[in-house]
Amino acid sequence: MSHWFEDFTPARGNLPARAWVRSDVPTLSLNGGWRFRYAERADTPADLADPALDDAAWDEITVPGHWQLQGWGEPAYTNIVYPFPVEPPFVPDENPTGDHRRTFVLPDGFTAGDPRVVLRFEGVDSAFTAWVDGTEVGRSVGSRLPVEFDVTDALAGTDEHVLAVRVHQWSAASYVEDQDMWWLSGIFRDVTLLARPLDGVEDVFVHAGYDHTTGAGTLRVDTPSPARLLVPELGVDVATNEDVTLERVEPWSAEVPRLYAAEVVSAGERVRLRIGFRTVAVLDGVFTVNGAPVKLRGVNRHEVSADRGRAVTKAEMLADVLLMKQHNVNAVRTSHYPPHPAFLDLCDEHGLWVVDECDLETHGFWLLDWRDNPSDDPRWREALLDRMRRTVERDKNHASVVLWSLGNESGTGQNLAAMSAWTKDRDPSRLVHYEHDWAVPYADVYSRMYASHAEVADIATRSEEALPDAEADARRRAMPFVQCEYAHAMGNGPGGLVEYQDLFESSERCMGGFVWEWIDHGLRQQGPDGRERFAYGGDFGEPLHDGAFVADGLVFPDRTPSPGLLDYAAVIAQVRLRPEGTRLRLTNHYDVVDLAHVRLRWSVADEGIEVAHGDLPTPDLAPRASVLLDLPAEVLQLPPAVGERWFTVVAELAEETGWAPAGHVLGRGQVQLVEAALPKTPVAIAPVRRGPDLLVGPAVLDARTGTLRALGGLPVETLELSVWRAPTDNDRGEHGEPLEPTWRTLGLHRLRHRTGSVAVSERDVVVTGRSAPAGTDTGFATTWRWSDVGGAVRLEVDVTPETPGGLSVPLPRLGIRLALPRTLRRLDWFGRGPGEAYPDTGSATWTGRFSRSVEELQTPYVRPQENGQRADVRWAVLTAADGSGLRVRAEPTIGVTVRPWSTETLDAATHTSALDDEGRIWLHLDQAQQGIGTGSCGPGALPAYRLQAQPTRFVLTFEPVV
Ligand code: GAL
Repeated sequence: MSHWFEDFTPARGNLPARAWVRSDVPTLSLNGGWRFRYAERADTPADLADPALDDAAWDEITVPGHWQLQGWGEPAYTNIVYPFPVEPPFVPDENPTGDHRRTFVLPDGFTAGDPRVVLRFEGVDSAFTAWVDGTEVGRSVGSRLPVEFDVTDALAGTDEHVLAVRVHQWSAASYVEDQDMWWLSGIFRDVTLLARPLDGVEDVFVHAGYDHTTGAGTLRVDTPSPARLLVPELGVDVATNEDVTLERVEPWSAEVPRLYAAEVVSAGERVRLRIGFRTVAVLDGVFTVNGAPVKLRGVNRHEVSADRGRAVTKAEMLADVLLMKQHNVNAVRTSHYPPHPAFLDLCDEHGLWVVDECDLETHGFWLLDWRDNPSDDPRWREALLDRMRRTVERDKNHASVVLWSLGNESGTGQNLAAMSAWTKDRDPSRLVHYEHDWAVPYADVYSRMYASHAEVADIATRSEEALPDAEADARRRAMPFVQCEYAHAMGNGPGGLVEYQDLFESSERCMGGFVWEWIDHGLRQQGPDGRERFAYGGDFGEPLHDGAFVADGLVFPDRTPSPGLLDYAAVIAQVRLRPEGTRLRLTNHYDVVDLAHVRLRWSVADEGIEVAHGDLPTPDLAPRASVLLDLPAEVLQLPPAVGERWFTVVAELAEETGWAPAGHVLGRGQVQLVEAALPKTPVAIAPVRRGPDLLVGPAVLDARTGTLRALGGLPVETLELSVWRAPTDNDRGEHGEPLEPTWRTLGLHRLRHRTGSVAVSERDVVVTGRSAPAGTDTGFATTWRWSDVGGAVRLEVDVTPETPGGLSVPLPRLGIRLALPRTLRRLDWFGRGPGEAYPDTGSATWTGRFSRSVEELQTPYVRPQENGQRADVRWAVLTAADGSGLRVRAEPTIGVTVRPWSTETLDAATHTSALDDEGRIWLHLDQAQQGIGTGSCGPGALPAYRLQAQPTRFVLTFEPVV
């Protein structure tokens, strides 16, 4: 027995797709509380349609919203695999179904002039039927696409009307909506009733170009029936469907999002538009807008709210846009469906280049070698074309949209070709994007995801491997290149951003890229322990799921920026300051504007303490131009440095903008003026033996075993070699380079320690030992040399890996760890900060003096993993509330990680909420760590950032602070 929604093109009653506009026709929002009844199957009687049905016993649901987040059914997460058997167009009998009902009264405006009454749904997941006053008004699929039904003839009586909507979770359409995200159902976007006058503006299509050679604008606004176009600021008052040339207009760009208020007026309707003039073109293989090459510094954005799923609020949309702008992001790919229409308005207004993607993904067919892939099956042709039409028609008037994307990961095929052909015909003013066919038969740009640095380098220089078909190869080689996804921001990372950005900037062919992805899709949930947490795949008991792979964003589920976003902002900064010798080079990486809006401030700090500061004149720099900044005269006249001296320049907004206040930091650069003085050669003082202990300055060692007992009066529970870190998502390398399994097989997470000898001499105590996992002859020989250097103890550690045949993988980390009393609660340090940094991350950090509580040092990655290292630390002080504590000095630097739980606890935890303070402080001091890379989906750490096991020495001095 099959259902209506088990059909390739099941829609009925839908009106032709048209632009989303603001108009003066009367509307009635039907958002709010609806009556709701839930069923596990789709084949229950459709009694909801009956206006007489008494729904008093039903529950209430909020529209827009997903029922799984309001108490019915459960969210489920799969990345690629379909959560149902693959036999299109059929879906299982277990098909959660939500019956929604509400009443409405037509407001006055709805009757004047006898308009048609139109019911509009902005998004319903996945298939639904709607009835008004007992009459079916339409059926539709296309979860992230709008649909309208004419309900005029169904309206019965004059008073209260009954709207009933039955929504099914699964439908044939689910096969083409296999995006990597939560499966969530319901009426999750707005529902509106519109009074459409017969003499209204049925549709509007704005064509607004800019000629960069003359400064002229071209304008034509198409409407299906006659109307007038008014652009008061430009003195335009013409009929629609006419070409207008305007001698001088200000163009729209993401940097200067100039919009002109316009109106399209017919006898019965007034539509308000905001027009941006811009021309998108590929010129000599370069992506340009208004004649200027444009680099996309983008992010992939899913619509996510930790509490409401894809039913995002206006405030969340605005937060996304403002956060992007504040972090130097200039482009968004609306992965993998058209966003809520209001989001694109915000992009027009604040300035973001948009790749608007159709609601299409059939990735699950990849697991079946693409057998019966809808993209190439004629039975799906109309359905796919319908999706593309609804995308383009809805969003065609947004200046911000510069590329149409056919969809994501849907293989290749004739239906994609048809979608592309239709799009190019309908809107030749924009480019077409599609990633999954590398021969690029029907797109205008060559797009790839997760290509390695080496491959991007080849493409950047147009020396990539040739396609077998010479003609196709020539066409592709002439195209601009974009990484529509790269730098998988899952957990700690992504690493390797700088190198990608350098490649993008090395070649005009590169349009830039879009980091995967903007936000973690964690859903707020009460865990089984009663604590609040962000849920990921499996947390709702799904039998089939992809775990934490859904949490891979630059912002946490609550939109707090992660260190990855801060790094990205620094790497793509348009106002870039990079050291060159003893000076800073300032480069304008904007595509359009100069630096007139930028204020430069400088400061000089000795050992992290500011000794001078001032303002620098902002040089007049055109896009892509750069200049070496001279040191201010004052700096040259400063007294000799006390310790290390650094010169810092911060570029900030001189004045407030629509997206950030004056003083907002756009870029930062530092150069070292004076290096650290070499540590004085320590004068060693002979160890003292007292009872069973050896006293070496402030260190107390067990005379027999060499074990450290205390440091400066602080009891020490553990001091040992540590090569293990709580594997990051990138170490796990689910869709890239997996290191973790090999690390675990080697047993690096379970070292056992043996003391070899304890030798006490006139100068020092030397303890030798070996640390190694059980069951293998791989291990690390260690020598610990302790010497009293007058009030402090110096520790020299030598580590020699003993790995017969060599290790096939890099080590996670190489350092020592100590367990210290929990009374220590704060870390002050001189090194890089304020945030975390690993060998290939931390672009957002700089050298200075910082202070953080132990709690503030933790980064709450949704799935717990290694985090929080402060890098290149010269010295650090851990203090208790009374100011007493322990100072560590490195020769020259060390990585410092401090946490109130052990690495083992961090490793074992599945959610941050499960991390309990252990009542002691774990201090990791690392000579090195393995780079982070982006191996969770893509390449692992670059060779320069890999921690190869080799003989290593590091030197630390511990000193009590009283
Ligand atoms: C891509 C895909 C995205 C996401 C990402 C991994 O292949 O397009 O939707 O799944 O990988 O997080």
